[in-house]
Formats: sequence, C-alpha cells, structure tokens
Amino acid sequence: MTAQLNARGDVAVLVPAAGAGLRLGPGGPKALRLLAGEPLLVHAIRRIAAAGSVRVIVVAAPAAEVEAVQELLAPVAPVTVVAGGAERQESVALALAAVPAGVDIVLVHDAARALTPPQLIEAVAAAVRAGHPAVIPVLPVVDTIKEVGPGPELEVVLGTVDRAVLRSVQTPQGFRHDVLAAAHATAADSLTDDAGLVEKAGVPVTCVPGSELALKITRPLDLILAEALLHVS
Ligand code: CTP
Ligand code: MG
Repeated sequence: MTAQLNARGDVAVLVPAAGAGLRLGPGGPKALRLLAGEPLLVHAIRRIAAAGSVRVIVVAAPAAEVEAVQELLAPVAPVTVVAGGAERQESVALALAAVPAGVDIVLVHDAARALTPPQLIEAVAAAVRAGHPAVIPVLPVVDTIKEVGPGPELEVVLGTVDRAVLRSVQTPQGFRHDVLAAAHATAADSLTDDAGLVEKAGVPVTCVPGSELALKITRPLDLILAEALLHVS
C-alpha cells in the first residue's frame, strides 16, 4: 500500500533521484550527497512533505540504493521508494506507475532541486487545480543567449536570440494525472523534462513564477551556493 501524508490532499509528488551525479564529480549518487551533513534527498523530501496538499510521495532511487533510501527517509516522511531507470524519463515513468488511481494531480520534482520551498510546490499544484492541465515554474533568462555553429577553427555566432521571450524551466512541474500518464504512455523520444512530453502531445503548458531557491544542484559550485542558501530556505 502507498504510504500517505495528508489523506485529504489531492497531489502525488514523483521525485526522480536515481541519477549518478556525474557533473558533481566523484562521491556517489547525487541524491545521497551531503549538504550541511544531510543527503540532498532528505532536504528535498522535508520540503515536499511540508506542502499541505501532498498526499503521496514516490521516490525513484538508484536501483542499488532502494532499501538504503527507504531507511533514510522513514524518519522524514511516509514515502514509497521504487528503483529508477537508466534515464530520468524512465525513472519518472517507474515512479508514476506507483501512484494510486484516486490522485488527481501529479507533480514531478527533481531531488537535485533540494531547496525548493513548499510554497512553490503549492503554487504549481494550485494552478493545476485551477484548470491548467500542465504547469511549469519559470525564471527569466539573465545571460544573453547566442545561437552558434561550427567555424573553421572555433565556434562562430549564427545569431542572437531575443532573451525577452526565453525562460529557464524548473521543477516541480505539475500535471493532471491523466495528462501525464497519457504523455508517458506514448512518449517516443527521451526529453529532459516532463512538460516537453506533454507539449508534444499538444497539451497547453502554463507558466508560474519560479524561485531562485529551486536551483538545480548540478556542479560543485552549486553545492557551495546551496549551503549558503540554507540560511534563507
Ligand atoms: N534522475 C533519475 N534517473 C536517472 C537520471 C536522473 O531519477 N536515470 C534524476 C536525478 O537524480 C535528478 C534529476 O533526475 O534528481 C535531474 O537530473 P540531473 O540533475 O541531470 O542529475 P544526475 O543525472 O544525477 O546528474 P548528472 O547528469 O550530472 O549525472
Ligand atoms: Mg543527468
């Protein structure tokens, strides 16, 4: 049986946490790397569990770590842990399969965005509840973005993209349960986010304001930044 948080909640959160963390450098799976003495996954789950409308949490863990992750999270929140797959999309699909039928809203939220505030999780869920079938948190792009191509020696610029119409995309991404299930069931190619699958299925995707605290911990410098941000998150 799926462990439950808030029996009246209408939201399941899938937490892909099965990645190797190669860009973070040596030190084991990223979700289990320590931030201020605790695994990133613990920081992430604590914030997810604090979002009041979350009923179910399903974590996709590295296959070799399923039992260890169950033990790690037992004192933090009731969670279901499944073995993840070779690609993020597969890990999400495996976690989605463990969501009970009665849950209307499914959020997909990277363990690597360990400092995401519960308020952002609630804002995404609320937008889905208000009638948007797919919702993503976004931030404006701060850098100037160039399109480049191969040159005779170094890359050369082909053009400058209008930054005003660009957004950086975060998680949690929220969906009507049936919409996400249909998108995953028919997914042909591998994408880096779930909204991309839903977009391909022709479903409108709506943006809500993201949070700088929802940064994805990817490279070593991000861990240093996250440690500093712990004081404000
Ligand atoms: N993820 C997953 N299953 C995979 C690959 C990634 O569940 N096969 C998860 C990661 O654990 C992470 C999220 O998807 O929480 C976003 O992926 P990313 O930041 O790329 O993490 P890693 O794949 O672990 O890092 P890297 O690409 O540097 O190896
Ligand atoms: Mg990756």
